Amino acid sequence: MHDLAPDKASLDAIEIASRDEISSLQLERLKWSLRHAYDNVPHYQEKFDAAGIAPDDLSDLSDLAKFPFLVKDDLRRNYPFAMFAVPRAQVVRVHASSGTTGIPTVVGYTQTDIDNWAGLMARSIRAAGGRPGDIAHVAYGYGLFTGGLGAHYGAERLGCTVIPMSGGGTQRQVQLINDFKPDIILATPSYTLTIADEFERMGIDPRETALKVGIHGAEPWSQAMRAEIERRFDMHAVDIYGLSEVMGPGVSCECVESKDGLHFWEDHFYPEIIDPESGAVLADGEPGELVITSIAKEALPVIRYRTRDLTRLLPGTARTMRRMEKIMGRSDDMMIIRGVNVFPSQIEVEILKDQRLSPHYFCELSKAGQLDRLTVVVEARPDTSPEECDAAEQLLAQNIKVHAGVSVAIRMGEAGTIERSLGKAQRIKDLRPKN
Ligand code: DLL
Repeated sequence: MHDLAPDKASLDAIEIASRDEISSLQLERLKWSLRHAYDNVPHYQEKFDAAGIAPDDLSDLSDLAKFPFLVKDDLRRNYPFAMFAVPRAQVVRVHASSGTTGIPTVVGYTQTDIDNWAGLMARSIRAAGGRPGDIAHVAYGYGLFTGGLGAHYGAERLGCTVIPMSGGGTQRQVQLINDFKPDIILATPSYTLTIADEFERMGIDPRETALKVGIHGAEPWSQAMRAEIERRFDMHAVDIYGLSEVMGPGVSCECVESKDGLHFWEDHFYPEIIDPESGAVLADGEPGELVITSIAKEALPVIRYRTRDLTRLLPGTARTMRRMEKIMGRSDDMMIIRGVNVFPSQIEVEILKDQRLSPHYFCELSKAGQLDRLTVVVEARPDTSPEECDAAEQLLAQNIKVHAGVSVAIRMGEAGTIERSLGKAQRIKDLRPKN
């Protein structure tokens, strides 16, 4: 694989600023953001007033812990535009996420917000190993989802030649990757594997493409999945994180030279980790739920947004800004099987250990009497014999029992029978009766 570490001179000054410089910029921006939210969004005014706290009560970064949380339901209750802190006419773009309840979460951006987002995405792509002049193939979905346009504007800002493919049309993806010879692909990790399969189906070795790096996010993916993508494409696979409520992709990103967790772009976002039960702020290094405060956003300031994503904060390495550990999963995706907590990513690790199995899978939850039952649905790779399939099935159940601590049933599909991801993979199918 290529050495893609960026030249230090090409970095934004703040990426390698001292901790003191970063903290003092954060404090100044956080004061502005609290005041901006309070003065312009009735929701924040009511919530802060009810909690007996005002923007001026913040004199130190740690004082943020006294402010109330923002949750997804707050955004839904203010559907569509009541969370905007600027007149609607200054909002130059909206995005939205569909959500499960039917009411989408709407987010908005001023021109300055769009410019800042492009800047942070450009920084992320550079950290991941992209350079001005590279060809960037964007296979995140375009539209209300922030993935496609977020990656697009960032790659343009960095000075790349952008191919706005969007998700889907997998045969066409393969053709254009072959013909246009992109250096970078931006796609969900699960869709990247769908593309790898299509390469192989068409008799083309994905290791022969010009791709040097894949920038993957929008869903949890394990280190084992990283190794799989890197092996199949002979390219670096780098993790990028973000969420529409906070901005979109580019809230944090790994550096290609270390691949040791995602550097939080702390000049725009202030991260905290809380105990999901009590809401108490935890020290760096402790695992818990990620809470994010925007400190420079105009249209949609988010103060202490509870992401439901589980991770922990770690000191900087390749940059001075802190890192978050690769996300294990969302608290919503935690399955409780006879009292044992398990995430799809733990199942994924066990599947990927066995080269006889394909990396496409989902977890099916059903009821066996009063108890929840987990069935892991997985496929063999096309060249696995029926005997090897049986052996792989048994070994998988054993490994999940030993390493994740749960007994599961395995259902093996024929190669190609599990629906392929074209964007975010759906890892859990819940067939339990709804009460
Ligand atoms: O998924 C934004 C995005 C697009 C990020 C492209 C990265 C790349 P939403 O649709 O609002 O936004 O979904 C956000 O996806 O709260 C996490 O649960 C999950 N997620 C995003 N990135 C990662 C990641 C986009 N790198 C939700 N690892 C978040 C694990 C991720 N989960």
